[in-house]
Amino acid sequence: MTLQEKLEELRRRNAQAEAGGGGERRARQHAEGKLSARERLELLFDEGTFEELDRLVEHRCQDFGMPEQRVPGDGVVSGYGRINARPAYAFAQDFTIFGGSLSEANAAKICKVMDLAMKVGAPVVGLNDSGGARIQEGVASLAGYADIFLRNTLASGVIPQISAVMGPCAGGAVYSPAITDFILMVEKSSYMFVTGPDVIKTVMHEEVTKEELGGPLTHNSTSGVAHFITRDDPDCLALIRELLSFMPQNNREDPPRLDSNDPVDRRDEALQALVPTESDQPYDIKDIIHRVVDEGYFLEVHEHFAKNLVVGFARLGGQSVGIVANQPAVLAGCLDINASDKGARFVRFCDAFNIPLITFEDVPGFLPGTQQEFGGIIRHGAKLLYAFAEATVPKITVITRKAYGGAYCVMSSKHIRTDINYAYPTAEIAVMGPEGAVNIVYRRELQKTENSEKLRREKVEEFRARFANPYIAAERGWVDAIIEPRDTRPKLIAALRALDTKRDTNPPKKHGNIPL
Ligand code: HXC
Repeated sequence: MTLQEKLEELRRRNAQAEAGGGGERRARQHAEGKLSARERLELLFDEGTFEELDRLVEHRCQDFGMPEQRVPGDGVVSGYGRINARPAYAFAQDFTIFGGSLSEANAAKICKVMDLAMKVGAPVVGLNDSGGARIQEGVASLAGYADIFLRNTLASGVIPQISAVMGPCAGGAVYSPAITDFILMVEKSSYMFVTGPDVIKTVMHEEVTKEELGGPLTHNSTSGVAHFITRDDPDCLALIRELLSFMPQNNREDPPRLDSNDPVDRRDEALQALVPTESDQPYDIKDIIHRVVDEGYFLEVHEHFAKNLVVGFARLGGQSVGIVANQPAVLAGCLDINASDKGARFVRFCDAFNIPLITFEDVPGFLPGTQQEFGGIIRHGAKLLYAFAEATVPKITVITRKAYGGAYCVMSSKHIRTDINYAYPTAEIAVMGPEGAVNIVYRRELQKTENSEKLRREKVEEFRARFANPYIAAERGWVDAIIEPRDTRPKLIAALRALDTKRDTNPPKKHGNIPL
């Protein structure tokens, strides 16, 4: 073979790989509003930086006429490039080849990029669009999934792992995204479920559509499986880039610092009156967050799930922070099962990746009721407590109003190793609200007294005067300073800077046993 012939052979094979499953299948992909695997990777990475690996890999299946149907790449495009000028690894399932189904060879490609990412300490992004296990390959395909799940697990807490669901993701295939740190879904084109509508109909006699069962809205608002809904493929890929900008490359690095034009000493007079003095009046905690963080920019995570707790990323003085905040506008900010799960997972992500935690607290307690107790609020609430207690990153809390009962302890209190605890003058720190306290402490007197309403009012006022303030906690040193709300930003940035070199550890152990 001449050199020219050798070059032509290479070009022919490359062209074949790039053609994927062919023009017709690609047209169908586009008609469904989906980009091709390569188009997605082009948008994910900084322009022109994506380098493909294994584009000539083919499957090895000898059954069901498969030897005649080999396509270079075998249904997944994998490789590396740069995202926000930093190295990153990714794979994108190509639905135009065997429905993006996972074969032994295809899984080996995914494992290869995951192994490389672990070796160098860089994030992995998985773009999922697949009919699941390659049916013709049987157990070889299942083995491929298990190989990926193992790597997802070992990489957890070492490198950031992000999954986008941009088409089908069904059966056991869902467990790879589920182990990763964040799941994004695309409106109209994506769905995830363990068993699909047909099986559900046969076994459970229930009728449900794919969308209702596992569409983006279901997983973002009801199940909590997914963290973000995106409009379309470009929106999804842009959000992955944005999300990564808050994270370090791996657990041994600090997150990148970005220059900010927002002055570190900026006070905000509007904050002074933002928390209502009436303790049962709702307000939107996000108004405080937006006013405090750099340029007012807050990337909310899990926005549509357990809205009584707000979590997300922002920057303070250019430094990445994770924000956890009770939301008095929803369920009065009570902690419930879903909020506890949501908060715990976010806290653990931030702790694993050296992102300081800022907590805004206004919580009347855990949500009462049989539904919560039967559902295991004890077990779930314990997750959030455990996560905050275990976290060794810089931790700063601002009590804006209520800090009642067990929730006071849970929400990053001084007692569970929070470094700096601030309170607004409007803070109320007690075992429970004055009404509840009076009903218990004065039950007998109230039953005996004729004018019990008068006595109740007097005692409620007495309790309020004694406990509905931050001063007892400040006198004990459990609140480090009572600050004026307008000073929140400068105070938080000063605290963050003072904690910049924080070193804290947990006792040596194989791992803890968080109540799952
Ligand atoms: C092999 C597959 C495939 C699969 C799809 N294809 N899924 N090939 N193995 N799992 C092929 C189709 O034969 C078709 O090939 C092409 O991909 C496109 O599929 P369509 O059915 O035409 O697409 P669409 O109508 O959009 O339907 C998409 C779909 C459907 C809903 C995903 O393909 C489907 O139900 N697939 C099977 C899903 C499934 O049951 N997977 C196993 C799940 S269990 P041609 O040549 O016609 O274009 C599982 C276990 C994982 O994954 C275990 C981990 C522990």
